[in-house]
Amino acid sequence: PAYPPEPWRIKMVEPLRATTRAERETALRAAGWNPCLLRSEDVYVDLFTDSGTNAMSDRQWSALLRGDEAYAGARSFYVFEQAVRTFYGYEHVIPVHQGRGGENILSRCLIRPGTHVPGNMYFPSTRAHQELNGAQFHDVIVDEAHDPDSDHPFKGDVDLAKLKAVIDEFGPASIPYVSLAATVNMAGGQPISVANLTETCELAHSHGIPVFLDTARAVENAWLVKHREPGWACRPVAEILRALCAPTDGAVMSAKKDSLANIGGWLALRDPDLAEQARGLVLLYEGLHTYGGMAGRDMEAIAAGIAESVDENHIRARVAQVEYLGERLREAGVPVVRPFGGHCICIDAAAALPHIPRDEYPAQTLACAAYLQAGIRGVERGAVTAGRDPSTGENRLPRLELLRLAIPRRVYTRAHIDLVADALIAVHRDRDRITCGLTFDWEPQHLRFFQARFAPA
Ligand code: F0G
Repeated sequence: PAYPPEPWRIKMVEPLRATTRAERETALRAAGWNPCLLRSEDVYVDLFTDSGTNAMSDRQWSALLRGDEAYAGARSFYVFEQAVRTFYGYEHVIPVHQGRGGENILSRCLIRPGTHVPGNMYFPSTRAHQELNGAQFHDVIVDEAHDPDSDHPFKGDVDLAKLKAVIDEFGPASIPYVSLAATVNMAGGQPISVANLTETCELAHSHGIPVFLDTARAVENAWLVKHREPGWACRPVAEILRALCAPTDGAVMSAKKDSLANIGGWLALRDPDLAEQARGLVLLYEGLHTYGGMAGRDMEAIAAGIAESVDENHIRARVAQVEYLGERLREAGVPVVRPFGGHCICIDAAAALPHIPRDEYPAQTLACAAYLQAGIRGVERGAVTAGRDPSTGENRLPRLELLRLAIPRRVYTRAHIDLVADALIAVHRDRDRITCGLTFDWEPQHLRFFQARFAPA
C-alpha cells in the first residue's frame, strides 16, 4: 500500500521503552485486563486515542510563549476566537477545557427532562450529557453504519426517514436539537456528506429544530468529502470545512483532535441569546468566558493548530497513514471496518473472534491480545463502551463490536505502523489460541470502559 512521505521532519524525540511479554502479562493483570488502566510507560505504540496525543509543531510550541495569561480579556483569547471564526465560520466562540465541557454546557442550555435528541450514532460523553439532562437519544444514522462490511462511502450520513419518524413520533417541541458528528467516531471515523448534512439541516430547520455539529474531526471529514463526494474534488479542505459548518446552528469541539493540540475545545454558536446563556454556564463550570478552563498558551497553540490542520499536505499525510494501516490489515485477511475512517482503523472483533461469545466481550479480549503481543494499546468500542440503558439498567448490545486503533497525528513513523500491522496479523493468525473472553470484576456507573476491571471468563 501507498505511504506518502510525511510533510514534516522530527526535531525532538521522546524515548520509548520496549517490554518483554512477561512484563506485559504482569502489567495487564495489574490493570484488571483493561488496557485503559495500563501505565503509558508500559505501552510501546499507543493507539488508545488520537485525542490530545498529537505532536505539536515548532510553530505551536513557539505560540505557547506568546500566551497571555491575564484572567480576563487575554490577547490569546482573541487570537483563538479569530481562528475559529475564520476557519469554522461561527460568530460566537466560547472556550471550554475540552469537548465534553462544551457538551455539558450545550446539553444544560437546551435539554429538558423527557425530551428526545436524534443523532448520527452516539459518542459516549455526548450521549451521557444528553441523558444526564433527561433526554433520550435516538440513533438515526444510515443502516450501513452498523455494518462493518458495507462499503458505503458516507456511513456517517443521517437516514432522513428515520429522523422524520422521530420528529413525527415525539413532535418538534420535544426535540431540543439534532446532534450530528463529522466524522462519526463510533462507526470508525466515518464521514457525513455535505449533501446529507445540508438536507438534514433543512429537514430539522423546517420544523424549527436547530442542529449542532461535533466538529472534533470535521477536517478529516472534509478530506474524505474531497475524495468521495462528487463535486468537491477540486475544492480546498478549508472551504469544505466551512461548507460542513455553514448549514448548522453551532458546534462543539474537542481541539484535542483535528486542531493538533494536547488540550482544549470550544462551543461555537450563531444565536446571540443562546451564546449569552452558554457564557453564563461557562463561568460556573469551566472558567471565565475568555479562557473557559484553558491557559492562554493553550489557546495560542490551538489557534496555530487550526491553521495547520487544514493544510492539504498535512491532512493528506494524516489520513494516508491511517489508510496504510487499514490496507495492510485488510490484505492479510484481518476483518477491518471499511471504508477506512479518518482517524482510526477498527477491527471487527466479533468476526475476528467468533468463538468468543458477545457477553465475554470479544473486542476487549482482542485489545488485551494486541497488548500482550507487542505492547500495542487500542481501545474497545463495542458492548463495554456502550454501557447500560439508564432506564432499564440492561446492557446495550451494539451491532459493532470493534477494537479501535486510533492514530495520533504526526507522532508515529511508518516502522511503528508496520509493527502494529505485523502484531495484529500475528494475533489474527493465532486467534484459536485465544480460548476465553472476559467478565466484569468491577463495573463503574458512568463511561464504564475507562475504569472497569475484568477477569478471564
Ligand atoms: N466528540 C467526539 C466525536 C469525540 O471523539 C470525543 C472524544 C469527544 C466528543 C469528547 O471530547 O475528550 O475533548 O472531552 N473522544 C476521545 C476518543 C476521548 O478517544 O475518541 P473530549
